[in-house]
Amino acid sequence: MTKPGFTDIFGRLLEQVRDGYRPEPFLGYSNTRFYTDSEWFEKERSALFKNKPILVGHLSMLSKPGDVFTHDHLGIPIMVVKGKDENIRAFLNVCRHRGVRLVNTDETSNKTSFVCPYHNWVYNLQGDLTHIPLHDESFPTIDPACHNLKELPLGLCEGLIFVCPDPAGSVDMDQHLGMLKADFARFGVTDHVFFRQSTRRLKTNWKLLVEAFQDSYHVKRLHKKTVAPGFLDAVARSERSGDHILAVVARNEFPEAIDLPPEQWDLRHHASCAMYLFPNVEVVVHPDYISYLAFFPIAVDETVVVHTCFIEEAPTNEKAQAHWERAFDIIENGVFGPEDYFVCEQAQIGMASGANTHFTMGAHEYGIGQFHQILTDHVGKFDHQSPAQLQSIDAPNRAHRS
Ligand code: FES
Ligand SMILES: [Fe+2]
Repeated sequence: MTKPGFTDIFGRLLEQVRDGYRPEPFLGYSNTRFYTDSEWFEKERSALFKNKPILVGHLSMLSKPGDVFTHDHLGIPIMVVKGKDENIRAFLNVCRHRGVRLVNTDETSNKTSFVCPYHNWVYNLQGDLTHIPLHDESFPTIDPACHNLKELPLGLCEGLIFVCPDPAGSVDMDQHLGMLKADFARFGVTDHVFFRQSTRRLKTNWKLLVEAFQDSYHVKRLHKKTVAPGFLDAVARSERSGDHILAVVARNEFPEAIDLPPEQWDLRHHASCAMYLFPNVEVVVHPDYISYLAFFPIAVDETVVVHTCFIEEAPTNEKAQAHWERAFDIIENGVFGPEDYFVCEQAQIGMASGANTHFTMGAHEYGIGQFHQILTDHVGKFDHQSPAQLQSIDAPNRAHRS
């Protein structure tokens, strides 16, 4: 499997534009049961969300020793903490006595230790059980060392924090990210700082949300009043890089790069770079900030979306603060919410009507086909039915019109 980076793809898109742009030929079919079948949904959840590295945050969310944030969207309570030794660790946010949750704040908080509210067992920031009230008379025989918090495998890459939700699992960042590490470095992900996060619960299958970001076809239409004026119409290229997909979408300035040597290509000025990060994240590199959307399946038709925004430096005055508040509000409440999320929820409603047995995807939705290949590799093959079978399903409709 080749693992191209953004510059490779940018160069190949430039060649395509130089030669008179035509997208790669593609015609794909997606059975609507792929988004409505509960059994298949459970298969996806266990293959993709139980023991793979999942992006949960960024180092800038934990600036001081004792800073901790919680993460509950994988169906198990997780906390990520910065220790006194400055190391980052992830634990199940679960007391080892009778299972009560230890940290209960949504935002990052600061702790010197974790005290369970139920019977006050105390754990230090490294997860060691350090105090049991009435230990000698109540539990004279138990060894506290056998009741430390359950630690989860954790990996760091360019400031991003990945956690495997299975204590017996593992995280290998080099194997998981491959060439993406260089791309995260290129965009200075390590040096960005956390600015805002919004969480929404949407009535749509998680894959429809991923697919909305693999489709350059809709940009000029769905987003015509918002971001579309900055882009050429569906001039884009996406390529698989390991289990991830990198997409370069041409901005109006893209043709300026045709006569420039590669060292003068500006991936944030000439194009917009976006990345599907396996299994459930879309990273979007905006001209002056980076955001990522993490899609967590809750039910076959319900998804939690966590949108997190990072900027190059923390605002130092009110004007800068207001600028970034506005930028986040525009993308979250002006573009993603009323446009992308809205159509995904509508498509889910449309599927329930029975109007479509399948979706037909054209050349500008090529990235969706790549996403499906990746899912096939990890979950197994879904029977989308052949085009011939699908044509016979459509035949009565055509006969009716003639
Ligand atoms: S459940 Fe935590 S101390 Fe008892
Ligand atoms: Fe969109």
